[in-house]
Amino acid sequence: MNILLLGSGGREHALAMAISKSPLLTRLYVAPGNPGIAALAEIAPVSAADEAGVVAFCRAAGVGLVVVGQEVPLVAGLVDACEAAGIKAFGPSRAAARLEGSKGFTKELCARFSIPTAAFARFEDAASANAYVRRQGAPIVVKADGLAAGKGVIVAETVEAAEAAIAAMFEGAFGSAGASVVVEAFLEGEEASFFALCDGTRAMPFASAQDHKRVGEGETGQNTGGMGAYSPAPVIDDAMSARVMREIVEPTLRGMAELGAPFRGVLFAGLMIGADGPKLIEFNVRFGDPETQVMLPRLEDDLLALLLACAEGRLPAAPPRLSDKAALTVVVAAKGYPDAPRKGGAIRGLDAVAASPGALVTQAGTRLDGEKLLADGGRVLNVTGLGATVAEARGRAYAALEKLDYADGFWRRDIGWRALERG
Ligand code: AMP
Ligand code: GLY
Repeated sequence: MNILLLGSGGREHALAMAISKSPLLTRLYVAPGNPGIAALAEIAPVSAADEAGVVAFCRAAGVGLVVVGQEVPLVAGLVDACEAAGIKAFGPSRAAARLEGSKGFTKELCARFSIPTAAFARFEDAASANAYVRRQGAPIVVKADGLAAGKGVIVAETVEAAEAAIAAMFEGAFGSAGASVVVEAFLEGEEASFFALCDGTRAMPFASAQDHKRVGEGETGQNTGGMGAYSPAPVIDDAMSARVMREIVEPTLRGMAELGAPFRGVLFAGLMIGADGPKLIEFNVRFGDPETQVMLPRLEDDLLALLLACAEGRLPAAPPRLSDKAALTVVVAAKGYPDAPRKGGAIRGLDAVAASPGALVTQAGTRLDGEKLLADGGRVLNVTGLGATVAEARGRAYAALEKLDYADGFWRRDIGWRALERG
Protein backbone atom coordinates (compact mmCIF):
# COMPACT_ATOMS: atom_id res chain seq x y z
CA MET A 1 0.00 0.00 0.00
CA ASN A 2 1.16 3.55 -0.73
CA ILE A 3 1.03 5.97 2.19
CA LEU A 4 1.06 9.77 2.32
CA LEU A 5 2.36 11.14 5.63
CA LEU A 6 1.72 14.84 6.31
CA GLY A 7 4.01 16.85 8.57
CA SER A 8 7.65 17.76 9.10
CA GLY A 9 8.51 17.34 12.77
CA GLY A 10 10.26 14.79 14.93
CA ARG A 11 6.85 13.19 15.42
CA GLU A 12 6.49 12.59 11.69
CA HIS A 13 10.07 11.29 11.46
CA ALA A 14 9.22 8.75 14.19
CA LEU A 15 6.00 7.85 12.35
CA ALA A 16 7.95 7.44 9.10
CA MET A 17 10.47 5.12 10.82
CA ALA A 18 7.69 2.92 12.19
CA ILE A 19 5.66 2.89 8.96
CA SER A 20 8.81 2.02 6.98
CA LYS A 21 9.09 -1.24 8.90
CA SER A 22 5.61 -2.40 7.87
CA PRO A 23 5.26 -5.37 5.51
CA LEU A 24 2.10 -3.63 4.22
CA LEU A 25 4.07 -0.67 2.85
CA THR A 26 4.84 -0.24 -0.84
CA ARG A 27 5.81 3.45 -1.14
CA LEU A 28 5.95 6.10 1.53
CA TYR A 29 5.32 9.69 0.45
CA VAL A 30 5.72 12.65 2.78
CA ALA A 31 4.88 16.36 2.63
CA PRO A 32 6.61 18.58 3.43
CA GLY A 33 8.94 16.26 5.39
CA ASN A 34 12.51 17.12 6.42
CA PRO A 35 15.95 15.77 5.45
CA GLY A 36 15.69 12.95 8.00
CA ILE A 37 12.32 11.79 6.69
CA ALA A 38 13.47 12.25 3.09
CA ALA A 39 15.95 9.42 3.66
CA LEU A 40 12.96 7.09 4.19
CA ALA A 41 10.30 8.56 1.92
CA GLU A 42 9.66 10.40 -1.31
CA ILE A 43 8.74 14.05 -0.95
CA ALA A 44 5.26 14.74 -2.37
CA PRO A 45 4.62 18.19 -3.86
CA VAL A 46 1.47 18.88 -1.81
CA SER A 47 0.45 20.82 1.28
CA ALA A 48 -1.86 19.62 4.05
CA ALA A 49 -3.59 23.02 3.81
CA ASP A 50 -4.64 22.28 0.21
CA GLU A 51 -7.34 19.62 0.50
CA ALA A 52 -8.02 19.40 -3.23
CA GLY A 53 -4.28 19.10 -3.89
CA VAL A 54 -3.95 16.24 -1.38
CA VAL A 55 -6.89 14.39 -2.96
CA ALA A 56 -5.49 14.88 -6.48
CA PHE A 57 -2.03 13.64 -5.41
CA CYS A 58 -3.50 10.58 -3.68
CA ARG A 59 -5.48 9.67 -6.78
CA ALA A 60 -2.48 10.11 -9.07
CA ALA A 61 -0.07 8.22 -6.80
CA GLY A 62 -2.50 5.50 -5.73
CA VAL A 63 -2.29 6.40 -2.05
CA GLY A 64 -4.27 3.99 0.12
CA LEU A 65 -3.97 5.82 3.44
CA VAL A 66 -3.23 9.42 4.42
CA VAL A 67 -1.66 9.85 7.86
CA VAL A 68 -2.13 13.36 9.23
CA GLY A 69 0.46 14.40 11.84
CA GLN A 70 -0.73 17.83 12.99
CA GLU A 71 -3.98 19.19 14.38
CA VAL A 72 -4.54 22.18 12.09
CA PRO A 73 -5.52 20.21 8.95
CA LEU A 74 -7.62 17.82 11.06
CA VAL A 75 -9.61 20.67 12.61
CA ALA A 76 -10.00 22.16 9.12
CA GLY A 77 -11.53 18.94 7.76
CA LEU A 78 -8.81 17.27 5.68
CA VAL A 79 -9.98 13.78 6.65
CA ASP A 80 -13.54 14.61 5.52
CA ALA A 81 -12.19 15.78 2.16
CA CYS A 82 -10.18 12.57 1.70
CA GLU A 83 -13.06 10.33 2.70
CA ALA A 84 -15.49 12.18 0.44
CA ALA A 85 -13.10 11.28 -2.40
CA GLY A 86 -12.95 7.63 -1.29
CA ILE A 87 -9.42 7.93 0.17
CA LYS A 88 -8.84 6.49 3.64
CA ALA A 89 -7.24 8.70 6.24
CA PHE A 90 -5.92 8.21 9.78
CA GLY A 91 -7.31 10.95 12.00
CA PRO A 92 -10.66 12.34 13.07
CA SER A 93 -13.24 14.13 10.95
CA ARG A 94 -13.65 17.86 11.35
CA ALA A 95 -16.60 17.30 13.70
CA ALA A 96 -14.63 14.86 15.87
CA ALA A 97 -11.52 17.08 15.83
CA ARG A 98 -13.50 19.62 17.88
CA LEU A 99 -12.13 17.65 20.84
CA GLU A 100 -8.91 19.60 20.22
CA GLY A 101 -10.28 22.51 18.19
CA SER A 102 -12.67 23.79 20.84
CA LYS A 103 -11.92 23.60 24.55
CA GLY A 104 -15.51 24.68 25.28
CA PHE A 105 -16.86 21.78 23.20
CA THR A 106 -14.74 19.31 25.17
CA LYS A 107 -15.70 20.79 28.55
CA GLU A 108 -19.39 20.57 27.63
CA LEU A 109 -18.91 16.96 26.51
CA CYS A 110 -17.28 16.21 29.87
CA ALA A 111 -20.19 17.79 31.73
CA ARG A 112 -22.79 15.91 29.68
CA PHE A 113 -21.11 12.49 29.85
CA SER A 114 -19.72 12.74 33.42
CA ILE A 115 -16.05 12.73 32.39
CA PRO A 116 -13.84 13.95 35.26
CA THR A 117 -12.30 17.36 34.55
CA ALA A 118 -11.78 20.72 36.28
CA ALA A 119 -14.95 22.69 37.11
CA PHE A 120 -15.41 25.36 34.45
CA ALA A 121 -17.51 28.05 32.86
CA ARG A 122 -17.45 29.37 29.29
CA PHE A 123 -17.72 33.07 28.39
CA GLU A 124 -18.23 35.21 25.32
CA ASP A 125 -17.45 38.54 27.03
CA ALA A 126 -14.84 39.84 29.47
CA ALA A 127 -17.20 41.32 32.09
CA SER A 128 -18.90 38.03 32.93
CA ALA A 129 -15.60 36.10 32.80
CA ASN A 130 -14.05 38.62 35.25
CA ALA A 131 -17.03 38.37 37.58
CA TYR A 132 -16.67 34.58 37.63
CA VAL A 133 -12.92 34.82 38.33
CA ARG A 134 -13.57 37.19 41.25
CA ARG A 135 -16.12 34.78 42.72
CA GLN A 136 -13.80 31.76 42.34
CA GLY A 137 -10.49 33.37 43.37
CA ALA A 138 -6.97 32.30 42.32
CA PRO A 139 -5.14 30.20 41.28
CA ILE A 140 -7.38 29.79 38.27
CA VAL A 141 -6.84 28.82 34.63
CA VAL A 142 -7.89 30.88 31.59
CA LYS A 143 -8.01 29.23 28.15
CA ALA A 144 -8.72 30.51 24.66
CA ASP A 145 -11.38 28.24 23.19
CA GLY A 146 -9.72 27.54 19.82
CA LEU A 147 -6.33 26.42 18.50
CA ALA A 148 -3.56 28.78 19.62
CA ALA A 149 -0.40 26.80 18.78
CA GLY A 150 -0.08 25.67 22.40
CA LYS A 151 -0.06 29.25 23.75
CA GLY A 152 -3.71 29.85 24.65
CA VAL A 153 -3.56 28.62 28.27
CA ILE A 154 -2.73 30.92 31.17
CA VAL A 155 -2.37 29.44 34.65
CA ALA A 156 -3.07 32.58 36.72
CA GLU A 157 -1.67 32.83 40.24
CA THR A 158 -3.74 35.92 41.02
CA VAL A 159 -7.17 37.33 40.12
CA GLU A 160 -5.41 40.27 38.42
CA ALA A 161 -3.34 37.95 36.21
CA ALA A 162 -6.52 36.07 35.23
CA GLU A 163 -8.27 39.36 34.37
CA ALA A 164 -5.28 40.43 32.28
CA ALA A 165 -5.41 37.12 30.40
CA ILE A 166 -9.15 37.50 29.81
CA ALA A 167 -8.65 41.04 28.52
CA ALA A 168 -5.87 39.93 26.16
CA MET A 169 -7.98 37.08 24.77
CA PHE A 170 -11.05 39.22 24.10
CA GLU A 171 -8.78 41.88 22.58
CA GLY A 172 -7.65 39.32 20.02
CA ALA A 173 -4.23 38.19 21.33
CA PHE A 174 -5.03 34.71 19.94
CA GLY A 175 -7.17 35.85 17.03
CA SER A 176 -10.50 34.10 16.63
CA ALA A 177 -9.34 31.33 19.01
CA GLY A 178 -10.00 33.77 21.87
CA ALA A 179 -13.51 34.85 20.85
CA SER A 180 -14.76 32.36 23.43
CA VAL A 181 -12.91 31.77 26.71
CA VAL A 182 -13.00 28.87 29.17
CA VAL A 183 -12.18 29.58 32.82
CA GLU A 184 -11.51 26.53 34.95
CA ALA A 185 -10.37 25.43 38.38
CA PHE A 186 -6.66 24.84 39.00
CA LEU A 187 -5.96 21.11 39.35
CA GLU A 188 -3.31 19.69 41.66
CA GLY A 189 -1.42 16.50 40.96
CA GLU A 190 1.05 14.97 38.53
CA GLU A 191 0.59 15.54 34.79
CA ALA A 192 0.79 12.68 32.34
CA SER A 193 -0.20 11.98 28.74
CA PHE A 194 -2.29 9.00 27.74
CA PHE A 195 -2.80 7.83 24.17
CA ALA A 196 -5.63 5.60 22.94
CA LEU A 197 -6.26 4.31 19.43
CA CYS A 198 -9.89 4.68 18.38
CA ASP A 199 -11.93 3.33 15.48
CA GLY A 200 -15.16 5.28 15.95
CA THR A 201 -16.82 2.82 18.29
CA ARG A 202 -13.94 1.17 20.16
CA ALA A 203 -10.82 2.42 21.87
CA MET A 204 -7.74 0.68 23.12
CA PRO A 205 -4.88 1.91 25.26
CA PHE A 206 -1.71 2.61 23.28
CA ALA A 207 0.91 4.09 25.62
CA SER A 208 1.60 6.74 28.23
CA ALA A 209 4.29 9.40 28.41
CA GLN A 210 5.36 12.47 30.34
CA ASP A 211 6.89 15.56 28.84
CA HIS A 212 8.73 18.66 30.00
CA LYS A 213 7.11 21.82 28.65
CA ARG A 214 9.32 24.54 30.12
CA VAL A 215 12.40 25.65 28.25
CA GLY A 216 14.68 25.69 31.31
CA GLU A 217 16.07 23.05 33.64
CA GLY A 218 14.08 22.56 36.85
CA GLU A 219 10.85 23.46 34.97
CA THR A 220 11.71 27.16 34.66
CA GLY A 221 11.25 29.72 31.91
CA GLN A 222 8.78 29.83 29.05
CA ASN A 223 6.42 27.15 27.88
CA THR A 224 7.47 25.34 24.72
CA GLY A 225 6.16 22.54 22.53
CA GLY A 226 8.09 20.19 24.83
CA MET A 227 11.82 19.88 25.61
CA GLY A 228 11.82 16.14 26.20
CA ALA A 229 9.67 13.17 27.15
CA TYR A 230 9.78 9.61 28.36
CA SER A 231 7.53 6.59 28.11
CA PRO A 232 5.97 4.85 29.94
CA ALA A 233 4.81 7.37 32.57
CA PRO A 234 5.45 5.71 35.95
CA VAL A 235 2.31 7.37 37.36
CA ILE A 236 0.15 5.46 34.83
CA ASP A 237 0.39 1.85 36.00
CA ASP A 238 -1.96 -0.85 34.68
CA ALA A 239 -4.69 -0.01 37.18
CA MET A 240 -4.53 3.71 36.32
CA SER A 241 -4.56 2.91 32.60
CA ALA A 242 -7.74 0.84 33.05
CA ARG A 243 -9.28 3.67 35.04
CA VAL A 244 -8.42 6.29 32.39
CA MET A 245 -9.98 4.06 29.73
CA ARG A 246 -13.13 3.52 31.79
CA GLU A 247 -13.62 7.03 33.17
CA ILE A 248 -12.30 9.23 30.35
CA VAL A 249 -11.63 7.53 26.99
CA GLU A 250 -14.63 5.20 26.73
CA PRO A 251 -17.25 7.78 27.77
CA THR A 252 -15.70 10.18 25.24
CA LEU A 253 -16.02 7.60 22.46
CA ARG A 254 -19.63 6.88 23.43
CA GLY A 255 -20.42 10.58 23.70
CA MET A 256 -18.90 11.45 20.32
CA ALA A 257 -20.80 8.60 18.65
CA GLU A 258 -24.01 9.80 20.29
CA LEU A 259 -23.37 13.33 18.99
CA GLY A 260 -23.01 11.92 15.48
CA ALA A 261 -19.25 12.60 15.39
CA PRO A 262 -17.59 9.21 16.01
CA PHE A 263 -13.89 9.60 16.85
CA ARG A 264 -11.32 7.80 14.73
CA GLY A 265 -7.60 8.21 15.12
CA VAL A 266 -5.45 8.68 18.18
CA LEU A 267 -6.94 10.36 21.22
CA PHE A 268 -4.24 12.07 23.28
CA ALA A 269 -5.52 12.85 26.76
CA GLY A 270 -3.55 15.34 28.85
CA LEU A 271 -4.28 14.26 32.41
CA MET A 272 -3.80 15.47 35.94
CA ILE A 273 -3.44 12.51 38.27
CA GLY A 274 -4.55 13.74 41.67
CA ALA A 275 -5.50 12.22 45.01
CA ASP A 276 -9.00 11.44 43.73
CA GLY A 277 -7.95 9.93 40.41
CA PRO A 278 -7.37 11.10 36.84
CA LYS A 279 -8.89 14.32 35.50
CA LEU A 280 -8.86 15.48 31.91
CA ILE A 281 -6.88 18.69 31.27
CA GLU A 282 -7.33 18.63 27.52
CA PHE A 283 -7.61 16.38 24.50
CA ASN A 284 -5.44 16.44 21.41
CA VAL A 285 -6.57 14.53 18.36
CA ARG A 286 -3.18 13.47 16.98
CA PHE A 287 0.07 11.99 18.23
CA GLY A 288 2.18 14.18 20.52
CA ASP A 289 5.53 15.74 19.71
CA PRO A 290 7.90 14.68 21.35
CA GLU A 291 5.79 11.90 22.96
CA THR A 292 5.63 9.93 19.70
CA GLN A 293 9.42 9.73 19.60
CA VAL A 294 9.34 7.74 22.87
CA MET A 295 6.22 5.63 22.27
CA LEU A 296 6.81 4.26 18.79
CA PRO A 297 10.28 2.78 19.50
CA ARG A 298 8.53 0.67 22.17
CA LEU A 299 5.84 -0.64 19.78
CA GLU A 300 6.28 -4.31 18.88
CA ASP A 301 3.32 -4.52 16.49
CA ASP A 302 2.94 -3.15 12.98
CA LEU A 303 2.01 0.54 13.30
CA LEU A 304 0.66 0.76 9.77
CA ALA A 305 -1.75 -2.15 10.37
CA LEU A 306 -3.01 -0.35 13.48
CA LEU A 307 -3.46 3.00 11.72
CA LEU A 308 -5.35 1.29 8.93
CA ALA A 309 -7.57 -0.59 11.39
CA CYS A 310 -8.49 2.73 13.08
CA ALA A 311 -9.34 4.32 9.73
CA GLU A 312 -11.41 1.31 8.66
CA GLY A 313 -13.33 1.01 11.95
CA ARG A 314 -11.99 -2.44 12.80
CA LEU A 315 -9.48 -2.27 15.64
CA PRO A 316 -8.37 -5.74 16.75
CA ALA A 317 -9.64 -7.05 20.08
CA ALA A 318 -6.25 -7.13 21.79
CA PRO A 319 -4.35 -3.91 22.52
CA PRO A 320 -1.04 -3.36 20.70
CA ARG A 321 2.06 -4.83 22.28
CA LEU A 322 4.62 -2.44 23.70
CA SER A 323 7.96 -3.56 25.08
CA ASP A 324 8.68 -3.18 28.78
CA LYS A 325 11.64 -1.02 27.81
CA ALA A 326 11.66 2.66 28.59
CA ALA A 327 12.44 5.38 26.09
CA LEU A 328 13.55 8.93 26.78
CA THR A 329 13.98 11.70 24.24
CA VAL A 330 15.81 15.01 24.48
CA VAL A 331 14.75 17.86 22.22
CA VAL A 332 17.68 19.77 20.75
CA ALA A 333 16.58 23.35 20.09
CA ALA A 334 18.24 26.32 18.42
CA LYS A 335 19.59 28.94 20.84
CA GLY A 336 16.93 31.61 21.30
CA TYR A 337 14.03 29.10 21.18
CA PRO A 338 11.12 29.58 21.69
CA ASP A 339 11.08 33.35 20.98
CA ALA A 340 13.79 33.90 18.40
CA PRO A 341 15.58 30.68 17.42
CA ARG A 342 18.83 31.16 15.54
CA LYS A 343 18.51 29.66 12.08
CA GLY A 344 21.22 28.23 9.88
CA GLY A 345 23.57 26.72 12.48
CA ALA A 346 25.64 23.80 11.17
CA ILE A 347 24.84 20.34 12.57
CA ARG A 348 27.58 17.72 12.45
CA GLY A 349 28.08 14.30 13.93
CA LEU A 350 24.53 13.00 13.58
CA ASP A 351 25.71 9.64 12.23
CA ALA A 352 27.85 9.14 15.32
CA VAL A 353 24.93 10.15 17.55
CA ALA A 354 22.66 7.63 15.83
CA ALA A 355 25.32 4.89 16.03
CA SER A 356 25.64 5.32 19.80
CA PRO A 357 24.29 2.23 21.66
CA GLY A 358 20.51 2.31 22.20
CA ALA A 359 20.13 5.70 20.51
CA LEU A 360 17.82 6.95 17.77
CA VAL A 361 17.80 10.33 16.03
CA THR A 362 14.74 12.07 14.62
CA GLN A 363 15.00 15.35 12.75
CA ALA A 364 12.57 18.27 12.92
CA GLY A 365 13.70 21.79 11.95
CA THR A 366 16.58 20.92 9.64
CA ARG A 367 17.46 21.53 6.00
CA LEU A 368 20.19 20.47 3.65
CA ASP A 369 22.48 22.94 1.95
CA GLY A 370 24.30 20.65 -0.46
CA GLU A 371 25.84 18.07 1.85
CA LYS A 372 25.62 20.27 4.93
CA LEU A 373 22.82 19.84 7.46
CA LEU A 374 21.64 23.17 8.89
CA ALA A 375 19.16 24.16 11.59
CA ASP A 376 15.96 25.56 10.13
CA GLY A 377 13.60 26.05 13.05
CA GLY A 378 13.34 26.23 16.83
CA ARG A 379 12.90 22.53 17.48
CA VAL A 380 15.79 21.08 15.51
CA LEU A 381 16.14 17.38 16.31
CA ASN A 382 15.53 14.74 18.97
CA VAL A 383 17.87 12.18 20.44
CA THR A 384 16.09 9.19 21.98
CA GLY A 385 17.60 6.54 24.24
CA LEU A 386 16.11 3.10 24.85
CA GLY A 387 16.88 1.04 27.93
CA ALA A 388 15.55 -1.29 30.57
CA THR A 389 14.64 1.67 32.80
CA VAL A 390 14.10 5.40 32.36
CA ALA A 391 17.50 5.89 34.01
CA GLU A 392 19.21 3.66 31.45
CA ALA A 393 17.33 5.23 28.53
CA ARG A 394 18.36 8.66 29.78
CA GLY A 395 22.00 7.64 30.13
CA ARG A 396 22.00 6.42 26.52
CA ALA A 397 20.33 9.55 25.15
CA TYR A 398 22.81 11.85 26.92
CA ALA A 399 25.81 9.67 25.99
CA ALA A 400 24.73 9.89 22.34
CA LEU A 401 24.31 13.69 22.62
CA GLU A 402 27.97 14.03 23.58
CA LYS A 403 28.76 13.15 19.95
CA LEU A 404 26.62 15.99 18.59
CA ASP A 405 28.46 18.96 17.12
CA TYR A 406 25.94 21.81 16.92
CA ALA A 407 27.32 24.99 18.47
CA ASP A 408 24.10 26.96 17.97
CA GLY A 409 21.96 24.39 19.77
CA PHE A 410 21.01 23.67 23.37
CA TRP A 411 19.09 21.05 25.31
CA ARG A 412 17.92 20.43 28.85
CA ARG A 413 20.17 18.12 30.87
CA ASP A 414 17.48 17.05 33.34
CA ILE A 415 14.89 15.28 31.18
CA GLY A 416 13.24 12.51 33.20
CA TRP A 417 14.12 13.88 36.65
CA ARG A 418 10.66 13.18 38.03
CA ALA A 419 10.76 9.51 36.99
CA LEU A 420 14.28 9.15 38.39
CA GLU A 421 13.25 10.67 41.72
CA ARG A 422 10.63 7.94 42.11
CA GLY A 423 13.53 5.48 42.07
P1 AMP B 1 -2.67 22.84 27.60
O1 AMP B 1 -2.23 23.80 26.51
O2 AMP B 1 -4.13 22.72 27.77
O3 AMP B 1 -1.88 21.56 27.58
O4 AMP B 1 -2.21 23.52 28.94
C1 AMP B 1 -0.87 23.85 29.14
C2 AMP B 1 -0.50 23.50 30.54
O5 AMP B 1 -1.25 24.27 31.46
C3 AMP B 1 -0.83 22.06 30.93
O6 AMP B 1 0.13 21.16 30.49
C4 AMP B 1 -0.89 22.18 32.42
O7 AMP B 1 0.41 22.18 32.96
C5 AMP B 1 -1.47 23.54 32.63
N1 AMP B 1 -2.91 23.46 32.90
C6 AMP B 1 -3.92 23.51 32.01
N2 AMP B 1 -5.11 23.41 32.63
C7 AMP B 1 -4.85 23.26 33.94
C8 AMP B 1 -5.65 23.14 35.12
N3 AMP B 1 -6.99 23.13 35.07
N4 AMP B 1 -5.02 23.04 36.31
C9 AMP B 1 -3.67 23.06 36.40
N5 AMP B 1 -2.87 23.20 35.34
C10 AMP B 1 -3.44 23.31 34.12
N1 GLY C 1 3.83 17.56 23.45
C1 GLY C 1 2.54 18.12 23.42
C2 GLY C 1 1.86 18.10 22.12
O1 GLY C 1 2.22 17.40 21.19
O2 GLY C 1 0.86 18.80 22.01
